[in-house]
Order: sequence, then structure tokens, then C-alpha cells
Amino acid sequence: MTKNETIGLLDSGVGGLSVLAQFYKVMPNQNYAFFADTKNLPYGTKTRDEIYNFTKNILNFFLSKGIKTVVFACNTTSAVAYERLRDYFKDEIKIFPLIQTIIPYSIENLSDGDTIAILATKATINSHKYRDEIKKLNNKINVVEIDCTGFVEIVEQRLYDDEKSFNLIKEKIDIAKKNNAKKVVLGCTHYPYLIDIFKKIYDVEYFNPAKSLVDVVKEEIKGEISQNKETKNPKIDFYVSKDPDEFIKSAKPFFKVDIKDVHLV
Ligand code: DGL
Repeated sequence: MTKNETIGLLDSGVGGLSVLAQFYKVMPNQNYAFFADTKNLPYGTKTRDEIYNFTKNILNFFLSKGIKTVVFACNTTSAVAYERLRDYFKDEIKIFPLIQTIIPYSIENLSDGDTIAILATKATINSHKYRDEIKKLNNKINVVEIDCTGFVEIVEQRLYDDEKSFNLIKEKIDIAKKNNAKKVVLGCTHYPYLIDIFKKIYDVEYFNPAKSLVDVVKEEIKGEISQNKETKNPKIDFYVSKDPDEFIKSAKPFFKVDIKDVHLV
């Protein structure tokens, strides 16, 4: 891997900012490039090939900017396209896929017979990636997979206060509750923004993979990416494929760092 100053992060929209925020907290002296593929949002209802192609385009874009360390701040892409893209870009880009990187941490504190619920997009649920990776580590843990189609739109369109949104969220979280899940995985990076609503319905431990992801990435890139302690104002470049203003509006309530320099590509 070539030494490189910038970490690229990608997602379909503002969800990935919940991951970027965690990176920024742990590695504030780093330069970041964040790509939100807002034109193709949501990813969760698209086919494997579509998601593969969207993500491949973003990786080629990052390469054109000289960015060779990329974090998939997106469960859906990690679930359905990571292995193909890893093989395609081989030595050119080091990719950190969200799900595959954090699985061991998701089942910490769980014992045989416990139930874990996975909240995720349709594509992630249909891939059974979480279930299969968890079962590889401990097949005595029960995994309940919940397709939460519609949650991404609630976040992107800022519909959190709608009654219709609450009813949809309740219907899904009630499945975790009915199954007595001891832990619930926020298996889509848009979902941490809805956690207060989730907790009102079922007050249990919600696992946000972003924290573990950052810890692993930090450890793995040690010595590869220089942590320039002198950089007081590290740069975060934002790229969107559609409607920068909408992106800024949807991101504002959640991403505390001032978002400027949003480039339309
Ligand atoms: N935030 C992404 C994820 O973690 C994608 C959501 C979507 O666009 O459907 O899965």
C-alpha cells in the first residue's frame, strides 16, 4: 500500500457521515474525502450489479484523486459488492468493508442461546452477510434479520416527526422486541440517527459498528497514513452525485462539523 494522506469514505448519502463523525473524533488530524452517491440513493433496494457498479465508479473517482485507502461507510455495499471490488482493485486500493471488519465486536458480551437482531436494508438482509459471519464465529447465537426498507428515506427526507415514519419504525423494532433480542445491530449507517426513536419502542443495547470500525482501521493503517500532529485544520472534502444543498440540509442535524466545499461530481 502506498503512503497516502487522505482516507476516502463512501455511502449512498448522509448515513456514512455517522461513520465519518467517528473517524473525525478518533483521528482528527487526518484528511478525509467523503463521497455520497445521492443520485443513486437508496442502495438498499437496488440489485447486486447496480450496487457493484455504483461503488466501482466511486472507487475509480477516488483513484483519480490519488486516494488509495477507502472505508465502505455503507453496510449494503459491504454486504453485496465488497469481495468483487476487492478482487477488481487488488493492490490499487486498500478497502475496509464495514460488516466484515466489525463482526467479532458485534457479538461481544453475547452467550450461547442469546438473540441478536440486525436492522438493515433489503439488500443487506437478503445477502445474509451479518447472519452468516456471526454464525461462523458462534452458531449458537440466534440471529433475527429485519428488513427496514423505508428508514433511509426517513433520514434523507428528514421525516422523523411523521406519524407514518413512527408506525413503520415501530413495526420493525417490535420484531426485535418480540424476539427478546439482547442486542440490536444498527446495520445501516443511516440508522444511528434514529436511535432515540428506537429506544422509545424497545430500550435495549444498540450496537453502532462505526466505533469498532474506526479502531480497527486506525490500528491497521498505523505507519501507512501519517498522522500530522501539526495540522490544525485537516481538510474534509465532500463529493455528491446530486443536489449538494439537500445533502447539507439532511446532514446538518447530525454532523456537527461545518460542512462546506460540497462538490457535485
Ligand atoms: N447507509 C447505507 C448502508 O449502510 C446505504 C443505505 C441505502 O442507501 O439504502 O447500508
